[in-house]
Amino acid sequence: MTAEIFHPATYTRAVPYDRFAELRRTTPVCWIEEPAVGAWPAGPGYWGVFAHADVKRVLRDPDTFSSHLGGTQIRDPETSGDLDFVRAMMLNQDPPAQARLRRIVAAAFTPRAIRRLEEMIADRARVLVDAVLPAGQADFVDVAADLPVWTLARIMGVPDQDRRLLYDWANRVIGYQDTDYAGLSTADAEALSPLGRAALAERPASMTRPDGRPLNPRSRVGLADMYAYAHGLATAAAATDPAAATDPAAATDPVATDGSATTDGSADADRDTGIVGRLLAEGLTDAEFENMFFLFAVAGNETLRNGIPGALLTLLQHPDQLESLRRDPETLLGPAVDELLRYWPPVMQFRRTATRDVTLGGRDLRAGDKVVVYHASANRDETAFPDPDRFDITRSPNDHVSFGFGPHYCLGAHLAKTQMRAMLGQVLTRMPHVRPAGDPVRLTSNFQNGLKHLPIRWD
Ligand code: HEM
Repeated sequence: MTAEIFHPATYTRAVPYDRFAELRRTTPVCWIEEPAVGAWPAGPGYWGVFAHADVKRVLRDPDTFSSHLGGTQIRDPETSGDLDFVRAMMLNQDPPAQARLRRIVAAAFTPRAIRRLEEMIADRARVLVDAVLPAGQADFVDVAADLPVWTLARIMGVPDQDRRLLYDWANRVIGYQDTDYAGLSTADAEALSPLGRAALAERPASMTRPDGRPLNPRSRVGLADMYAYAHGLATAAAATDPAAATDPAAATDPVATDGSATTDGSADADRDTGIVGRLLAEGLTDAEFENMFFLFAVAGNETLRNGIPGALLTLLQHPDQLESLRRDPETLLGPAVDELLRYWPPVMQFRRTATRDVTLGGRDLRAGDKVVVYHASANRDETAFPDPDRFDITRSPNDHVSFGFGPHYCLGAHLAKTQMRAMLGQVLTRMPHVRPAGDPVRLTSNFQNGLKHLPIRWD
C-alpha cells in the first residue's frame, strides 16, 4: 500500500521517515495511489520521487518536469479555468515566463536586501517574546505565528491592522485538509482598514458548495476576498505612488525604508507600496499581480509559522544540541538553522508533470504523469547525508533541499532564515530552561509539516 504516503492523516501522527527510507532502498521512484479523502474525490495517482539525486534531477529540468502543465499541487485543479488561473502564478510557470516574473521581485529578496530588514525582524521577535515572558509558559505556535505575517505585511505594504487576513488566507489554502483550520477566520472586522472590510464582504459564505462538495480554496471563488484585497491594494498603491506606475526606480522600496519601523509594530506600514509598487511599475496583468500577492501571502507565511515551532520542537527533542547552541549561538545559530530545516522541512513535497516519456530511477514515466518530489525524504537520504537521522547542528556540508532546487529555488530563503534566527535567538537567550509543557499537536496535511500547538514553559 502506497496510499499512506499520500494520505493527509498519516502526517497527523508523524512524517513517515521509516517508510521513506524503505522506499529509497526498494523503489526510489514509486507509484503512489491517491484515494478519496473525505469529500475530496480520488485522483489518478502519481510518481513519488524519494532519493536526493532524483529529486534534484526533477527540479533542475523544467523542460521535462513542468510546473506549468498541471500546477505544483498533487491535486489537479478542478476545471480548466482553475488551471488557467493558478498558471498566472510564477510558482506554476516554467522558464522563461517564470524568470520574467521572478526578476521583477528578486531585488527585494537578495541577502543584501534582507540584511537591511534584519534589525526590524529582530525587534519584532523581541516584542513577541516580551509579551509572553512573564507568564512562564505559552503555546509557541501562537508566539511564532505573528512574525512571518508581520514581516510580510511590511514587505507588501499591507496595513498592520489587516495582517490577520494574511494569516486567515494562508490557513484556508494550506489547512484545508485539517478541520481545525479549513475556512477558519480570525480577523476582527472592526479592527480592519476600509480595504480589509471591503475584502471581508467578498469572503465565500461557506467552503462547502450547496451539493456538499468542498469549494477549492485555490480558486478565484475560494479566495474571492483575497483577490479583492490584492486588487484594492494595487489600486491604492497606484494612486499614492503614481511614479511607480511608470518608473520602476521610483517605486518605494520597503527594504530601504523599513529601518524606520518602531519596535511595537505600529510602524506606518501603509505608506509603503513596496513590492506592490514594483509590480505595478513593471506592468503586470491583473491576474499576474493578484497571483503574486497570493504567492507571497501563502509561501512566506505558513512555511515559517510551521517551520519556527518545528525547529524549536526538534531542539527540545535533542537537549544536548540545544545546550551546545545555547552556549554559542553567535557561531552555531547559522548552521543550526540549516540543520533544523533539513531535519524538519516545513514543505514536504512539490509536484511537477512529465512533459515527455522519460526514465527516472529505473521507472518509465509517461508524458502527462504527475511527478511528486519528496523533500522530506531527500533530506534523509543516506547517500547525501552521513548518518542522516542524526540531528547535528554542526553538520557540514548540508545539501538539504528544503528550499527546493533549480529555477524555483525559494525566493524567500534568506528572509526565512533571518526570521528563524531572530525567533530562536530570543528563545535561547531569554527563556532559560525552555522545555515541553504538553504534547505537540500536528497539522493534518500532506504538504506542510505543520504544528498546531507546541506548549512550552521556561524559568
Ligand atoms: C522556512 C520557510 C520556507 C520554506 C521551507 C520554503 C520552501 C519553498 C520551496 C520548497 C519552494 C520551491 C517550490 C517549487 O519547487 O515548486 C519555494 C518557492 C518560493 N518561496 Fe519559499 N519557503 C519558505 C519561506 C518563504 C518566504 C519567507 C517567502 C517570501 C515571502 C517565500 C517565497 C517563495 C516564493 C515567491 C517561491 C516561488 C519561487 C519561484 O517560483 O521561482 N518562501 N519555497
